Amino acid sequence: MRLLPLALALLSLDSALAAVLAIDYGSDWIKASIMSPGVPFDVLLNKDSKRKMQASVGWKQSTRYFGTDAFNLASRFPTDSFSSIKLLQGAPFDSPAVAQYARISSAEIAQTARDTAALRQSDGTEWAVEELVAMQFAYVKQLAESSTGEKVTDVIVTVPPFFSQFQRDAVVDAIEISGLRTLALINDGTAVAVNYAMTRTFPTPENHIIFDAGASGIRATVVNFSTGNGTNPATQINVVGVGYDLSTGGTELDRRLREILIEAFNAKHGKDLRTDKRGLAKLWKEAGRVKGILSANVEASSTIESLAWDIDFRTKVSRADFETACEDLKPKFAQPIQDALKSAGLTLDNITSVILTGGSTRTPMIQAAVKAAVGEEKIALNVNADEAAVLGAALHGASLSRQFKTKNIKVQDMSAYDVQVSYLATASTPRTITTLIFPAGSKTGSKKTLTFKRKEDFVINFDYKDPAPAGFPARFLEVGIEGVAEAIANLTEMGATDPVVKATLTLSESGFVSVSNAVAFGEIKDESIAGKLKGFFGAGSSSEAVEETSEDSRPRASTSASSTSSANASEATPEKKALPKENTITLNTTVVFPTIPPMTVDEKKAARSRLRTIDLEEAAVARKEEARNGFESYLYRMRDLLDPENADTPFKQCSQESERQAISEKLDESFAWLYDRGDVAETSQFLDKRNALETLERPIIHRYKEIEEFPQALNNSQMWNWSTRLFLNEAGENMTAEAEAGLPSKWTQDELEALHKTLKEHEAWLNEWVEKQKAVKANEDPVIETTEMKARAKVLETALMKLYKRKVPKTTKKKTSATEEATPSPNASANSEAETSTTSAETSTTSAETSTTSAESTTPTGEPTVVIPDGEQQAPIPTIHDEL
Ligand SMILES: *[C@@H]1O[C@H](CO)[C@@H](O)[C@H](O)[C@H]1NC(C)=O
Ligand SMILES: *[C@@H]1O[C@H](CO)[C@@H](O)[C@H](O)[C@H]1NC(C)=O
Ligand SMILES: *[C@@H]1O[C@H](CO)[C@@H](O)[C@H](O)[C@H]1NC(C)=O
Ligand SMILES: *[C@@H]1O[C@H](CO)[C@@H](O)[C@H](O)[C@H]1NC(C)=O
Ligand SMILES: *[C@@H]1O[C@H](CO)[C@@H](O)[C@H](O)[C@H]1NC(C)=O
Ligand SMILES: *[C@@H]1O[C@H](CO)[C@@H](O)[C@H](O)[C@H]1NC(C)=O
Ligand SMILES: *[C@@H]1O[C@H](CO)[C@@H](O)[C@H](O)[C@H]1NC(C)=O
Ligand SMILES: *[C@@H]1O[C@H](CO)[C@@H](O)[C@H](O)[C@H]1NC(C)=O
Ligand SMILES: *[C@@H]1O[C@H](CO)[C@@H](O)[C@H](O)[C@H]1NC(C)=O
Ligand SMILES: *[C@@H]1O[C@H](CO)[C@@H](O)[C@H](O)[C@H]1NC(C)=O
Repeated sequence: MRLLPLALALLSLDSALAAVLAIDYGSDWIKASIMSPGVPFDVLLNKDSKRKMQASVGWKQSTRYFGTDAFNLASRFPTDSFSSIKLLQGAPFDSPAVAQYARISSAEIAQTARDTAALRQSDGTEWAVEELVAMQFAYVKQLAESSTGEKVTDVIVTVPPFFSQFQRDAVVDAIEISGLRTLALINDGTAVAVNYAMTRTFPTPENHIIFDAGASGIRATVVNFSTGNGTNPATQINVVGVGYDLSTGGTELDRRLREILIEAFNAKHGKDLRTDKRGLAKLWKEAGRVKGILSANVEASSTIESLAWDIDFRTKVSRADFETACEDLKPKFAQPIQDALKSAGLTLDNITSVILTGGSTRTPMIQAAVKAAVGEEKIALNVNADEAAVLGAALHGASLSRQFKTKNIKVQDMSAYDVQVSYLATASTPRTITTLIFPAGSKTGSKKTLTFKRKEDFVINFDYKDPAPAGFPARFLEVGIEGVAEAIANLTEMGATDPVVKATLTLSESGFVSVSNAVAFGEIKDESIAGKLKGFFGAGSSSEAVEETSEDSRPRASTSASSTSSANASEATPEKKALPKENTITLNTTVVFPTIPPMTVDEKKAARSRLRTIDLEEAAVARKEEARNGFESYLYRMRDLLDPENADTPFKQCSQESERQAISEKLDESFAWLYDRGDVAETSQFLDKRNALETLERPIIHRYKEIEEFPQALNNSQMWNWSTRLFLNEAGENMTAEAEAGLPSKWTQDELEALHKTLKEHEAWLNEWVEKQKAVKANEDPVIETTEMKARAKVLETALMKLYKRKVPKTTKKKTSATEEATPSPNASANSEAETSTTSAETSTTSAETSTTSAESTTPTGEPTVVIPDGEQQAPIPTIHDEL
């Protein structure tokens, strides 16, 4: 267990606290972590208690499988087992990403209406990539819910920093289809940085490189860590550079290794294994295994029975062969580090360490390349290569949800791609104006405001300067600004001079670019503020795109804030106050996705209901299975009970021959039915049949239970009988003594007599029925029920306690506190103990109060009052002293 108790504490015990799920969704593996009140913070275990699960989903006939089960199906059902789906997220159907997928997977790829990829089952059912990923998210959600016992809604998911908006959209769509809610997406290198900072401080700023060699690609992230001192002890994580290579990930290494195996097979057996999907799928799994062996050994042998054409395949692969096959990749392994440094404007001298994460950092040639590039002394293996990202993501998610008190770590990420906007200028000769609005390296969570001098509606286009990644479209968004003419006319009518359109563009924390706000704005003549307004907004408003203002990034700032209220630069404050509200008119925006659109709301709804249908079917199958298994094992248990071999069992003792006969007949009938009809029966039939048998068994169980519980019930009755009698004796004596001393009594004679009568009745009933019950045989129904015995004892108890708890009359000088402590019966003391323990949470919260009041109520002699848990009207001790 990797617990971080210091890092995390709950803010409060509010039961409305929601859990935060983190998913590190990789090409090969899914890791998850759940942050939930009262649950130790750790990686979520799958149903086999493993800390990671294979990112696969598959079908065998109509049964759906996840994880290793799904992955392993590939060797028998190569077109019904889907893995490495991450490679397809958001990818256009004709992109290199899809082509690469076709090279490694035996699955059939189909084209969706949105021009993205879907995968086709052997029965023709097609699933969009988002749907397949959503199934896996939903599966993880379910695991998390059964591990915490509560509903899980909010999720943070890791993505590679090189994921473009298309890919990020695909992740968010999958999250929504799965029934989860996106708290954030976090770049995986950044998540590792959060994990790294959790247990460290950086009094002097340090730069580290997170080198992450995953299945889908290698990336390097340069991170600057610094911890404040004194009043601001937060640790700041700034991502200052990224580099990546999509052609060298673990998946490509697996593919190269599989090529070696294929060639070996073809050479040896004179056939082309590439024509056999099952064989290819088997070798895919084998390639991963062999790669693992070659990480620690220089040679690996491979044996696969009946690989294809009933041929048992045997071969040996050496690490040297493997590395030769990857010769062209070697220069690329460490290149992301150089690229990341370059984008950060730093050199290796500025780097404290290179932190290795990701499964492929175990591959010797990758390690060697990194060592050669940065020097062995810079390599750090001090984070868990598999789990650092998911744990970091969970911690970041927890801090975003603001429901958990976590170590104060502020994260500032950056974008990996240049984003530019373009629009048609209409001034004299129409021309397209292009502006680099968020260059690569822009801080996430930042906003820019563009000012346009326009009188009509217009469109702002968003492009990646270079297609990102290769093969993806450049254009990802077109935002129309509407209602311009009317708004400008209104402003002019209101007296505004030179009204303009201001559009606020946002690069969100999760890396999405959008137009968060658009307004028409005009300066309205107002003597008191006119000068100031002119000074602030008037400058440079003559060109088409007049102004580009960078606002300071404010994490999670409201994206709908209008331009007048979101600027809070201190020097702008006087103007801000003076701005009359009427001089901005909010404009409508329309969003068009010209290339690869995210799923529409309707598409997501349809996908969600498709998934829900499967969930319901699976739940029904599971219920039936459970009912059938339960019924079957119940039958066997009954058969055991009836077995003549088992002579002296409670079941035999408490049952009559005729009852056993009836059960036996029903049992035979049930066995016959189960074997005859069991496979086609409905859930309700299993339950009904079981119920029929249980009805016969129930009286027998009842007798047995009564026999078991009788001694205790009798004990209880006698105990109250005894306590009451004791009380009456003592109270009687005390009353006599008090009468002699001329003191008032707590009770009247009548009250004591009434209690005595109740006692007598109870005793009489007990004597009569206990005698009768003694004559009842074990296999006969009892004549008195223990529930009645308890109820009658309760009547006596209530009558007794009413008198027993009586307070001393006002005028008396007797101390009452003693009565609270002297307990007449074991049960009363057990009660108060139970109360104390159940309310212990309360006790601790009020303890502060208690201590102050007890100090105050200290007697003149300095004797503190005794604090009794329920604190019921303690007689104040000072009074007694005063009177004495
Ligand atoms: C890291 O960032 C801080 C500001 O947060 C800066 O002062 C410092 O120079 C940076 N450190 C390095 C080594 O670049
Ligand atoms: C924090 O550290 C900086 C540099 O080490 C120092 O100049 C500053 O006075 C310190 N501030 C506090 C509040 O200790
Ligand atoms: C990076 O290292 C170089 C060479 O040691 C040094 O001149 C430069 O100031 C460093 N930059 C930062 C930001 O620390
Ligand atoms: C904005 O859109 C809404 C709904 O389509 C419409 O009713 C409204 O008139 C539009 N406003 C402007 C300023 O165009
Ligand atoms: C413009 O003014 C007219 C008349 O006052 C009003 O009905 C309309 O809603 C205004 N349009 C906008 C976009 O403010
Ligand atoms: C503006 O900034 C000041 C100082 O940073 C802060 O106290 C204030 O709450 C901010 N106001 C708004 C509306 O954000
Ligand atoms: C009856 O109660 C007493 C006192 O609590 C206990 O010692 C005894 O074992 C009990 N007997 C039965 C049969 O429960
Ligand atoms: C009730 O208690 C008295 C005195 O302790 C005892 O003599 C009597 O047998 C008890 N009765 C029953 C029914 O237990
Ligand atoms: C009877 O008096 C004694 C002595 O004052 C006291 O301890 C005891 O609790 C009294 N009994 C009852 C039943 O009140
Ligand atoms: C003791 O009292 C509690 C609460 O009145 C009751 O639930 C419980 O059954 C009693 N226990 C016995 C042994 O009589």
